[in-house]
Amino acid sequence: MSFNWISANEISINSILLMDRWMLQQLMGLSDSPMYDTSEEYRILLGTIFAYNPTIVWYFKNRCPEAADRVDQLIALIPDTLSSEEVKESEASFIDMMDTMFVYLQPEIMNSKCPYIRDWDSDKLLSIVDFSDKLVLDIGSGTGRLAFAAATVARKVYASEPCDRMREFMRDKIMKKQISNVVVLDGTIEAIPFEDDTFDITMCGYVMGLDIKQEVASLERVTKNGGYIINCMGDDDRKNDKPNERLLEEGFKYSHYVSKTDGDVYRYWKKVNK
Ligand SMILES: C[S@@+](CC[C@H](N)C(=O)[O-])C[C@H]1O[C@@H](n2cnc3c(N)ncnc32)[C@H](O)[C@@H]1O
Repeated sequence: MSFNWISANEISINSILLMDRWMLQQLMGLSDSPMYDTSEEYRILLGTIFAYNPTIVWYFKNRCPEAADRVDQLIALIPDTLSSEEVKESEASFIDMMDTMFVYLQPEIMNSKCPYIRDWDSDKLLSIVDFSDKLVLDIGSGTGRLAFAAATVARKVYASEPCDRMREFMRDKIMKKQISNVVVLDGTIEAIPFEDDTFDITMCGYVMGLDIKQEVASLERVTKNGGYIINCMGDDDRKNDKPNERLLEEGFKYSHYVSKTDGDVYRYWKKVNK
């Protein structure tokens, strides 16, 4: 799915050299990204990038050694007769296809161009439950849309994010704005790096989806009895005439509003009963 956040022609394929190991694993189907296994076109495009960019191959194999065999398998699929225009076209198509990953390397672009962040108002989070004096976890914080909003009211917010460029972006903001109650750390929704029953509120936005049952169970584990789990989307432009049924099956309540860009925005919350 393309969100048109970036223009592929303005992004260098060398951006891959900025990716951390978690991102490289995603590109290679070694974590949760299904693209590698399901799309022949995807593998050919990535193989072309490897076959014609030896520095990227070197980086990939050293930064993510578990992907080395797959890199060689992809290179073997590609003829050595492609013109430089054909290679450039493949690189642009790959960037376009994986624009979410490439935009994660450019947090400033995310903040200024992604409507779900740009047009969003923090009251949309703070009106869901009372954040006063609460201990909060934000999973998959990205640029910190939810974490920094919660921190205006909460006692302390842990912002967990697997992509190191995003963590750097949040840490820079914390330093610049002298925010004292946000702590940034690594972690995924599948493996939340906290003890059971730690938080009053756990929240996320645009992170759940691959296995909602497991993801909710994971958030529930670290949430105290009587606490809340929140899934708070931003002001995106996606039309959607009904809420996510799988979240409703997991016991979430929701409210709906129409964003400035005419999208249907749903916010979900669930009180935890253990
Ligand atoms: C579309 S962004 C949303 C960022 C932020 N939650 C927001 O709503 O503004 C999704 C974020 O989730 C992170 N992410 C992706 N897979 C994840 C996972 N399995 N566990 C935790 N975070 C993940 C990405 O690195 C990215 O920063």
